[in-house]
Parts: sequence; C-alpha cells; structure tokens
Amino acid sequence: MTVITGPSFRVGTLNRFRERNRATARPTYPEAGWAAIIAGPSLETMAGMGDIHGIRLVMDVRPPLSLSCTVALVGLMGAGKSAIGKRLALRLGLPFVDADDEIERAAGCSIAEIFEKYGEADFRAGERRVISRLLDEPPHVLSTGGGAYIDPDTRALMRAKAVTVWLRAELDVLFDRVRKRAHRPLLRNGDPKEVLARLMSQRYPIYAEADVVVDSTAQPADRTTEQVIEALRAHLQQAEKTPA
Ligand code: S3P
Repeated sequence: MTVITGPSFRVGTLNRFRERNRATARPTYPEAGWAAIIAGPSLETMAGMGDIHGIRLVMDVRPPLSLSCTVALVGLMGAGKSAIGKRLALRLGLPFVDADDEIERAAGCSIAEIFEKYGEADFRAGERRVISRLLDEPPHVLSTGGGAYIDPDTRALMRAKAVTVWLRAELDVLFDRVRKRAHRPLLRNGDPKEVLARLMSQRYPIYAEADVVVDSTAQPADRTTEQVIEALRAHLQQAEKTPA
C-alpha cells in the first residue's frame, strides 16, 4: 500500500502523479487498485483547476495474494494453462515459466521432434527432470504440459513443492482452442476430438487431485484468472486453518 500525503497539490500535479504511477504499475499489476483520495478538508473538483489541500492519496499496488511457493497449472491441451498462467503471473507479480518451452530449450528441439525421435516415455522422463528443476527455483507460475500431472512421479513432485491448479474445461472448449494449431503430437494420431475425449476420461479423475479446481470456459481469460486468484485465496485460507 502506497500512501502519499501532501499539504497542497494542484490538480495538474495530482493527475500527472496518477498517470505516472498508473504507467509504472500497469506492467506488473494491470488493475492496480487506484483507491483515490480518502480525506481532504478542502477538496475542490478534480475537473476544475483549484488547489486541493491536505489530501491523502492511496494507491494499492500490492499483488492480490502472497505466495511462498510455485503455482503449477495442470489440465488438458487447450485448457488455457499458458494464457491464464501469463495473466496470473502478472497479477501475482511472479515470473511465468512454461515447462514445455523449458523442455524444448533443454532438448534443443521441438516437443513433436522429441516424440518422433525418442518416443513418449523418453519425453516423460525429460519432462520430469525439467519440472523437478523448475520446482526448486523461487516461486513462479508454472504452466505444465497436459500429461505432466498424469505421470505419478512428476505429480508427486508437484504436489510436494507447488500449489496445483487444475483448469477444467469441457470438450468443445478444448477442441475449439486446439484445432487451430497442429504442433501437438498426441493430436496428430487420429481424430483430435476423439483423442481429447479419451484423454478426458483417462485423466480427469487424476487432475481432480489438484489442490484447486477452476473451470476454464469460453469467457474472457482475465475473468478466469480472477477466479483462479479467488480459488487460491480460499485454498490458502483453508490451509492456514488446517493444522499440519
Ligand atoms: C501433452 C501436452 C502438451 C505437450 C505434449 C504432451 C499431453 O502440452 O506437453 O504434447 O500429454 O497432454 P500442452 O498441454 O501445453 O499442449
């Protein structure tokens, strides 16, 4: 919370101050709570050119939650793990990391090439190593590939070292999101909608073990991000109440 007090601000000064702080606050906290003027004995209209005396200006730029561990997003392909993850990271003031990008960087080739050259088992082993390394890094928002949480060892690591959030989505939502891109190897074998439906029935009971579950619908990603924050807040409050 930033509290600025001043005996006398001209309106122009106030507006410049506000603009400047909005500009700096925005990249990290897109909706910086701009709580405004909370007291003033002789407050003249903001639209006019009069002086404002004795104001207290309050701007809340705190992240909406304080987290001491990584938030790991899990869910099927198309669940919105990257889109929501990036927004969530901005809102929480944490770095965003995409596990699949890290795997590709470590392997020096694309995920499709890893599947093609070495097969899925080797991909899962590499995924486990990379996620294990990332979970030892300072808190961040981690987007994980759809199969990561299904691997028992990777899941155990994530459950031990992160708060896990399942972005649960219906088949039509998933399909609508994935059908525009052809880079996912698992969706190249057979009808993508059928593959997704099969993976849903196999994987949803396992994703359901996540700490937090949020529905990822066709609504704007910003709104889903706010729902993730609310769900995380409720989870953390519950965890505080539950004795270890
Ligand atoms: C996979 C999902 C992909 C990627 C790989 C395998 C899966 O990530 O890790 O193609 O098993 O569901 P996204 O969920 O980010 O598409």
